[in-house]
Amino acid sequence: QTPHILVVGGAGYIGSHMVWLLGQRGAQVTVLDNLSTGHRDAVLCGRLVEGDMADAALLDRLFAQHRFDAVMHFASCIQVGESVSDPAKYYVNNVGNTLTLLGAMREHGVRQFVFSSTAAVFGEPLYSPIDEQHPRAPINPYGRTKWMIEQALDDYGHAYGLRSVSLRYFNAAGAHPDGLLGERHEPETHLVPLVLQAAAGRRPHVTVFGCDYDTPDGTCVRDYIHVMDLAEAHWQALRYLSEGGATRAFNLGNGDGYSVQQVVDAVRAVTGRPVAVQVGPRRAGDPARLVANAALAREVLRWRPRHASLEAIVRDAWRWESR
Ligand code: UFG
Repeated sequence: QTPHILVVGGAGYIGSHMVWLLGQRGAQVTVLDNLSTGHRDAVLCGRLVEGDMADAALLDRLFAQHRFDAVMHFASCIQVGESVSDPAKYYVNNVGNTLTLLGAMREHGVRQFVFSSTAAVFGEPLYSPIDEQHPRAPINPYGRTKWMIEQALDDYGHAYGLRSVSLRYFNAAGAHPDGLLGERHEPETHLVPLVLQAAAGRRPHVTVFGCDYDTPDGTCVRDYIHVMDLAEAHWQALRYLSEGGATRAFNLGNGDGYSVQQVVDAVRAVTGRPVAVQVGPRRAGDPARLVANAALAREVLRWRPRHASLEAIVRDAWRWESR
């Protein structure tokens, strides 16, 4: 029997790759997206409903019209800096509107939910690599909103039988290997696309945010994970929930840390183009090192990342940036 999945935020970067994969796997897909940051032409299969998850009446109609087997939620605001300067936007959308979505699920008896969480729930790491038990102590409103929803999901699981998987992404990057989809944030704040845009001549240079961190080359270390591997993990999460899996959070990364300097070097190697670099001050709230221990996802979700090298991530992202 074909599952019917509601993908909220399916026109965005990670959501659109997920929608494509769901189509490949034969799922029926409905996308709900307000197109505030997403793109209509990124929805490559299923039906797009243009609307907001804050709109309870719209949700009620949508859930009455279709029998969804599960809901996936990619419709959050994601800029850490903006969450500090405009926290209301983050609490209203990432917490309030997510609760509205969960309310519609409860109302209509949909009991499987996959939530996009983040490494930002951990705050400044106490050890590395970071496993699921690492204390959650977010240091910015963005991370706090994600952690609040994770906690609500635990409570909803116990009280209402609404089972969920929270996937804590480390640094999502890369693009569909065939060049069909990629990252299109406006403004772009993420390192990999910024460096590629500099390689493509669309930016004069890249600013490295600090080179005096306590890391091998002084620049921040992150765990970059290919967007298609992320989508695979979501697929496995759906399977886990459909088999009766209990509410649980998983870290998603490769377990390899790469510095900002190593990303710049990888872009130079893959593109064969120069990238001008300027060193700037540290960006507020950046931990020196964020690397995942994703053993639990491998074990429980049977997740197997297939594009784990930084080179593969950069190569696929370059295909998209140079389209
Ligand atoms: N960086 C630069 N120059 C830039 C942009 C980024 O040096 O122009 C550095 C950052 O300081 C950081 C690294 O590159 O050390 C990666 O930065 P990104 O902005 O690409 O990613 P973050 O690690 O800050 O953020 C990502 C997600 C957030 C999430 C966070 C923690 O985008 O949503 O991981 O999970 F909160």
